Amino acid sequence: MSQEITAQQLNPEQFIDEKTKEIISIVGDGIAINALSGGVDSSTVTMLGHRALGKRLKTVFIENGLMREGEPEMVAALFRKLGVTVEIVDAREEFLNALKGITDPEEKREAITQTFYRHVFGRIVKASQAKYLLQGTILTDIDETVAGIKRQHNVFEQLGIDPLEAFGYQIIEPLIQLRKDGVRKVGRALGLPAGVFERIPFPGPALAARVIGEVTRERLDTVRKATSIVEGALKDTKAFQYLAILHEDRVTGITQGKRAFGQQIEVRCWDSVDARTATPTKLAFEKLDKLAREIIDQVPGVVSVTYNIASKPPSTIESV
Ligand code: XMP
Repeated sequence: MSQEITAQQLNPEQFIDEKTKEIISIVGDGIAINALSGGVDSSTVTMLGHRALGKRLKTVFIENGLMREGEPEMVAALFRKLGVTVEIVDAREEFLNALKGITDPEEKREAITQTFYRHVFGRIVKASQAKYLLQGTILTDIDETVAGIKRQHNVFEQLGIDPLEAFGYQIIEPLIQLRKDGVRKVGRALGLPAGVFERIPFPGPALAARVIGEVTRERLDTVRKATSIVEGALKDTKAFQYLAILHEDRVTGITQGKRAFGQQIEVRCWDSVDARTATPTKLAFEKLDKLAREIIDQVPGVVSVTYNIASKPPSTIESV
C-alpha cells in the first residue's frame, strides 16, 4: 500500500518534480493516454502528464452519456486554453446499453468499469499504440474499495487485478498517495484555474452513481437537470460537495389539480475535509425551500424533494 502524503506534509513543487521524473522514466519515449473527466483528480493528472510528456500524452474525454450538462464542451474548451488538446469520444450508446436492466449498485459499477476499461479504452489504446494509461486514482478510492464499501471504478491492483493482463495496458497512478485536499494543492501549483482545482468532487461512475435503480436516458435527464439546479443554488455555501439523487420509489403528488404518481429527488450537501467522514451542511430552511421549488418547477415528473440529514458513516456521500 502506498504511503500517504497528507496535505500538511505535501510540498507541491517537490511532488510535481518527483512525479514528472517518475512518469518520464516509466513511459520513456513511448506514448501514454489519459481520460479527462473535468474533475479535480483527472484534471490534475492531465496537467502533470502534459508537463512530463508534452504531446506524447494523448488526452481523451469519454462522453459516456452520464456526465453533467454541457460538460464535454466546457472541459475541452477550458483545457484548450491551457494548451492541452482534448479529443471527445462519443460512447453514449455503449454505456447505456451496458447499463440496461441493471439495478444492483455493484453490478452497475462493474458494467461501467468493463465498458470503460475493456471496451472503449481497449479500442482507443490499441489504435494509438500507447502502452500506458495515466489515471488520477487517489487514496480514498482505494480505502473504500479495499474495505469492501464500494468498488470504485478505477481500482485494480489492490483487488489483485493486473490491468496489463486484463486490458492490455499498464496504469500509472501518480496521485495515489494523496487525498482530495492534497490533490487541490498540486492542481493549483500546476496552473489549473481555481474553478477547476476548487471544483466539488464528482464520482467516476458519474450520474449513474446518483440514480437508484435502472439507469436509463430519461432517468439520467431527470437527475442531470436536478444536479444543475442544486449545483447552481448551493455554490455559495462553500460546502465540500452537493448533489441530487433520483430515487426509485414513486410517491403520490398533485400536479395541476390532478393525482400524479411522481418521482422523488433527494438533495445532499456535505461538510467534509477528505470525504472519509462527512456531515450534512446546516442549510437555512429558506434556501432549501427555494431549491425544492426550483427543482419541482423545472424538472418534469418530480413531485417530492427531500434533504439528507444523516452523516457518513453510516451513509456514504454518493448513493450507489
Ligand atoms: P462515497 O460515496 O464513497 O464517496 O462516500 C467518497 C468520495 O469519492 C467520490 N468518488 C466516488 N464515489 N464511486 C463513488 O461512489 C466512485 O467511483 C467515485 N469516484 C469518486 C465521491 O463523489 C465522494 O467525494
